[in-house]
Amino acid sequence: MKSFIGLTPEETSLSAKYLSKLLANTYLLALKTQNYHWNVKDPSFIMLHEFFGSHYEELSEVIDEVAERIQMIGHKTPATFSQFLELTSLSEETAAQTRVDMVEDLLKGHETIIIELREMLQALDKSNDEGTIDFFIGRLRAHEKMSWMLRSHVTK
Ligand SMILES: [Fe+2]
Repeated sequence: MKSFIGLTPEETSLSAKYLSKLLANTYLLALKTQNYHWNVKDPSFIMLHEFFGSHYEELSEVIDEVAERIQMIGHKTPATFSQFLELTSLSEETAAQTRVDMVEDLLKGHETIIIELREMLQALDKSNDEGTIDFFIGRLRAHEKMSWMLRSHVTK
């Protein structure tokens, strides 16, 4: 059914393109965070296992919010691993062995997402899709917070 929420097809297409990219990036970063939650080996294992676990859970909840926002503006949500790998700007490959490698790898992922969100927000400057713009601003703040927490783990 056609939706009437006051946005042009061009506006919803642009938002859906950016939301799909954010969805793919969040999915990849959540999986990578879960990977380290499982595979980290360190004298502070329990703390790191729980820390990575809490970030994984936060990102997993966001995946659903991003996916459903795409539906709210009348578009189809990408939902296969092959689509995510095609859309993402992150690499799923990781050579991280140590706690520091893992934290730095996750930090790089969050920073990539932050920089892309800023570019998306600039490109949406003239759009009337305030719902998506506000959502992106919220995501930006959340990734900045997770980045700060990760950075604090590796700052000497
Ligand atoms: Fe777990």
